[in-house]
Amino acid sequence: MTLRHFLRDDDLTTDEQSAVLDLADTYKADRFTAKPLAGPKSVAVIFEKNSTRTRLSFEVGIAQLGGNPVIIDGRSMQLGREETIEDTSRILSGYVDAVVWRTFAQARIEAMASVSRIPVVNALTDEFHPCQVLADLQTIRRRYGRLAGLTLTYLGDGANNMSHSLLLGGATAGMHVRIGAPASFVPNPQFLEDAKKRAAETGGSVSLISDPRESVDGADVLVTDTWTSMGQENDGKDRVGPFRPYQVNTSLLEATGKPDSTVLHCLPAHRGWEITDEVLDGPQSLVWQEAENRLHAQKALLVWLLEQSS
Ligand code: CP
Ligand code: NVA
Repeated sequence: MTLRHFLRDDDLTTDEQSAVLDLADTYKADRFTAKPLAGPKSVAVIFEKNSTRTRLSFEVGIAQLGGNPVIIDGRSMQLGREETIEDTSRILSGYVDAVVWRTFAQARIEAMASVSRIPVVNALTDEFHPCQVLADLQTIRRRYGRLAGLTLTYLGDGANNMSHSLLLGGATAGMHVRIGAPASFVPNPQFLEDAKKRAAETGGSVSLISDPRESVDGADVLVTDTWTSMGQENDGKDRVGPFRPYQVNTSLLEATGKPDSTVLHCLPAHRGWEITDEVLDGPQSLVWQEAENRLHAQKALLVWLLEQSS
């Protein structure tokens, strides 16, 4: 038995990522028959930041699998007072079969995993959002029939969790991942390096392109996200001016030069800021399928991690 966690996108190899996406497609085809968490197995799902999609998709998904979802507002736990992350983790390992956590610094979820006897899943940290990217990859793969060789451009805040996760997850899938971002909001150099190494193994590539039109030229998929992530509301940075040229609008979408290019956004969207209504609600948008696929991808991930760890 090897205890497996999913703390960042490159915790899965290319083959493992592909296996999880295959399972996600079977759950999409039939939501209700498979009950691998019957017993039931319990999964704690803890939130220290707001959530709509992640909370609902984990709660509904665990129940569909026959399991028992235990949803907790982390701000009301003793963790929110002085109990340590490690002590909390030891307690969780005695009660539940897996823990899913949305928190702040990545170091917090690494501390949780360091003493855990059960799988730990990252439901968003300041640095990564790997469950979202699994759903994004499922959505792209279903549209194009493959991932390797496709070009994906992420536009906007290159230093945020979605940018980092798309770099690592996309490189693992063998995609060409471009980050179109202003010089003051580029990815963490270590994560960029990690993604480059992974891309060298898979035939993919990663690149930083500051010119927005150049960054989307020939792209199959455009992805954007809020310019102000949770926790950054009062960080003193101008989070509008530098990003304006990176707005995903009809003109930028046309600059891909590909009429079948598509658009993703993890949501919530700030309509009229990082993306226009016209694009979000337009025929090239896959955002609603993407949001639904959170359910299928996370069910697959949980079942896969529990199988590997048992
Ligand atoms: N995309 C996403 O993680 O949405 P929530 O913040 O609503 O969970
Ligand atoms: N980058 C965003 C993603 C929200 C799902 C945030 O962290 O707020």
